[in-house]
Amino acid sequence: MDKKRILTGDRPTGKLHLGHYVGSLKNRVRLQDEYECFFIIADLHTLTTRPEKSAIEEIAENARDMVLDYLACGIDPAKAVIYLQSAVHEVYEMNLIFEMLVTVPRLQRLPSLKDMVQSANLAEMPFGLLGYPVLQSADILMPRAHLVPVGKDNEAHVEMTREIGRRFNNLYGEVFPIPDVMIGDVPSLVGTDGNTKMSKSLGNAILLSDDEKAVHKKVFSMYTDPKRIRADIPGTVEGNPVFIYHDIFNTNREEVEDLKSRYRSGNVGDVEVKEKLSRALNRFLDPIREQREIFGSRPGYVDEVIFDGTMRMRQEAGQTLLAMKKAMGLTGIWNRISRKAEKSRKKREE
Ligand code: TRP
Repeated sequence: MDKKRILTGDRPTGKLHLGHYVGSLKNRVRLQDEYECFFIIADLHTLTTRPEKSAIEEIAENARDMVLDYLACGIDPAKAVIYLQSAVHEVYEMNLIFEMLVTVPRLQRLPSLKDMVQSANLAEMPFGLLGYPVLQSADILMPRAHLVPVGKDNEAHVEMTREIGRRFNNLYGEVFPIPDVMIGDVPSLVGTDGNTKMSKSLGNAILLSDDEKAVHKKVFSMYTDPKRIRADIPGTVEGNPVFIYHDIFNTNREEVEDLKSRYRSGNVGDVEVKEKLSRALNRFLDPIREQREIFGSRPGYVDEVIFDGTMRMRQEAGQTLLAMKKAMGLTGIWNRISRKAEKSRKKREE
């Protein structure tokens, strides 16, 4: 039996952070043997908020950085297709067809889009940004994916994809499986500043490529329990970013439990808690750094990975688009017209 398929990916905004890892990357690495995987470098999606030429010029380098992070985390290009969205022209066509299957009010209700308008400092909603989830649906349905591992922030977009897939199938016949969403065990990672979401643009992210010193510095600037102005005051562990990170990244459970109980009773200083967190994070990041070094030192390797993946995706895309157009009867229109045109021309020339 053929393996089921995964499609997921990221906008190439540069280097990835811990939030990407626990939200989705970890699942991708874990599932790459069980599923046939397609990972998209969603560069067209970056145009929805940043269409300027200067931003487009940064995409290639950002894509390389991001894919290097993928590889460093253990995504294996021998198992997974990693491809550049803008180089697969079928997606532009699929996007237009799917636009017919969704209403404007449905899209306007998505909080994620309003958030993006805000954080990009836009005065009004660009037409293309309203269509962001439609384009994302085209990405997901292109390889006819069954599963989409994403962070919590993308959950509503996958729901949109399910609706579009169902609508298409109902109107034209079963072309698409309806994909399930899979959210990582940490749906949304807090930032170092205590903000609910880690994000590079908010400046509260620990990057997978940060060196030991940078991690140390970021950990020591972390937000903790604001009411705890001295080490002998009992502190709150719950919802405290330092302990949230300990819980996720420190594999020494005993150490974590010991720190928690001493924190609660006011028997430990922030310095010790942070020192141990910094060490745990660096232990977690070390193998990733090592792999990053290895892949990064091979000139052109990352570009070859993206090239091969994109060529492979183009085959997939061609098949799906043709299946869609056939199911819709779109191919038939041109077939009939061109056949008749040829015939009548021939007749005239006889
Ligand atoms: N929306 C994703 C992000 O937040 C990027 C993306 C584009 C994506 N197409 C996708 C994710 C398809 C999963 C599946 O960056």
